[in-house]
Amino acid sequence: MNQLDGQIAVVTGGAQGLGLGIARQLARDGASVIIADRQEEKAHEEAAQLRDEGLTVRAAALDITDSAAVASFFVALVSQEQRVDILINNAGTGQQVAPIVELQDAEWHRVLDATLTGAFYCCRAAGRIMEQQEAGCIVNVSSINGQNPAALVAAYNVAKAGIISLTRTLALELAAYGVRVNAVCPGPVYTEFNQRNMAQRRVSLGISEEAMIERIRTAIPLGRWGEPEDIAQGVAFLCSPAAAWITGEVLRVSGGMEGVSATPPKRPRS
Ligand SMILES: NC(=O)c1ccc[n+]([C@@H]2O[C@H](COP(=O)([O-])OP(=O)(O)OC[C@H]3O[C@@H](n4cnc5c(N)ncnc54)[C@H](O)[C@@H]3O)[C@@H](O)[C@H]2O)c1
Repeated sequence: MNQLDGQIAVVTGGAQGLGLGIARQLARDGASVIIADRQEEKAHEEAAQLRDEGLTVRAAALDITDSAAVASFFVALVSQEQRVDILINNAGTGQQVAPIVELQDAEWHRVLDATLTGAFYCCRAAGRIMEQQEAGCIVNVSSINGQNPAALVAAYNVAKAGIISLTRTLALELAAYGVRVNAVCPGPVYTEFNQRNMAQRRVSLGISEEAMIERIRTAIPLGRWGEPEDIAQGVAFLCSPAAAWITGEVLRVSGGMEGVSATPPKRPRS
């Protein structure tokens, strides 16, 4: 018997990267997983591939920044499955690297909407269901940036710090109903998200992609970049019966890295 046998689990942003790794791990642990992603075609392709591996996974199109769509997604899911046991709020977006003094309103709102507000919509919708059923588990994916901000990505840092506060608040509010809410703070994993980020940072430092990758690697105490499986193991633990007395907790899964601290030099005056 697997530890999540028969449980209904939603993974937002599960079509690639960390979310896909998390979906695979929860399904391997016995859960019936729904990948909810705005990349509809990719989500369906990846779900089909996981089914080929003998796992119970399906896909659904969902844009977590659309409040009404999130609400109706969870209403439809509960009417179909009668319950929602696990929600992993993984979907999020990186920020165009820029100092605060040059950060545009549109970029601030885009990042906050996709990385914090969307997770709030999902927490609210799933929280209502879990409160009703008096059981459930939510894991929100924050970042080491949520604990220790990195320069030049203020909107992202703020969104991820917000995820930690959202997690701890919801954990208090749902504790009486036996619903657990925790967060993970991943360190660097070389997904599409991070490739984009590294590409921008290396240009600002005037170094090659290889040099940038190596620079990050040497800053990680355990001496290697993370893999999606590393993060998935942390998430799966928080969903498992072994974590039955853990709520409102923030688990850093980062090879020991606490944050990316670098102070940029003065910018040339225009
Ligand atoms: N990769 C890292 O090093 C790292 C480190 C710390 C935290 N994180 C966080 O982990 C999460 C996953 O990161 P990743 O590296 O796998 O990113 P990724 O960009 O490779 O994948 C993100 C997935 O989320 C989906 N998504 C984005 N916006 C969405 C929306 N509005 N509605 C529905 N789906 C949406 C995308 O379609 C994509 O499938 C993010 O929250 C990210 O901030 C990543």
